Amino acid sequence: MDRVHDPAELRRACDAARAGGARVGLVPTMGALHEGHATLVRAAAERADFVVVTVFVNPTQFGPNEDFARYPRTLEADQSLARAAGAALVFSPDAAAMYPPGDETRVRVGETAAALCGVHRPGHFEGVATIVAKLFALVGPCVALFGRKDYQQLKVIERMTTDLLLPVEVVGVATVREADGLALSSRNRYLSPAAREGARAIPTGLARAAALFQSGERRAGALRSACRAPIAEAADSIDYVEIADPERVVPFDDETLVPERALLAVAVRLGG
Ligand code: PAF
Repeated sequence: MDRVHDPAELRRACDAARAGGARVGLVPTMGALHEGHATLVRAAAERADFVVVTVFVNPTQFGPNEDFARYPRTLEADQSLARAAGAALVFSPDAAAMYPPGDETRVRVGETAAALCGVHRPGHFEGVATIVAKLFALVGPCVALFGRKDYQQLKVIERMTTDLLLPVEVVGVATVREADGLALSSRNRYLSPAAREGARAIPTGLARAAALFQSGERRAGALRSACRAPIAEAADSIDYVEIADPERVVPFDDETLVPERALLAVAVRLGG
């Protein structure tokens, strides 16, 4: 398996693969790969003949007080995991290659990006959409896979791909969870043992709301409260616990009776 740093080399490799009749698959990541990423790569390999994994800690999607500087960087291990899962190429550019001197252009995102993380991480989705548009431009026609763990991100990327007429099929892949239900995440390695224990409250809250929904409760406020209660006991602070329309990612207010499909999403701070 190859690793390239130069955007032009990535474009050449993908063009050559397509010229040879291959379908190209893309798994964009920020590295610190884990089993959730391996699942994305394997799902890409089922749909495509030539799978590219990109590893780039994208500066424009981090706020000034976020973890850009300390985000885990584990490129050698990432390369091994990507290879074992079926990737043909790893692309790991430096920031200057993705944001050339004089860079000033951004993808403007809309309503899908406004609520939930859009409120708590201003500029985050603009940074995500911008880097993903650049990766799509380099890779060209392909199938691109994203985890449903970052559900709002997935919807923002789907919207952008439709709006900008990009030749990419976007596929969302189910969240991979630990045995106790916590979603796998590169950032879980920040959790102290106590914070990791507290994080169990997230799947507990989600499961309580889901059980209530199964029992017939449809009031958004009641479902949200059921989810929030165990989380409020464990978390240092809660960014949000929201129930939203699963396509537009617009939250339902407390009195709304939610439809058969609804998104229940939480963002919580534990420890650091
Ligand atoms: O989900 C991520 O890892 C990142 O937000 C992405 C999609 C690779 C863009 O930097």
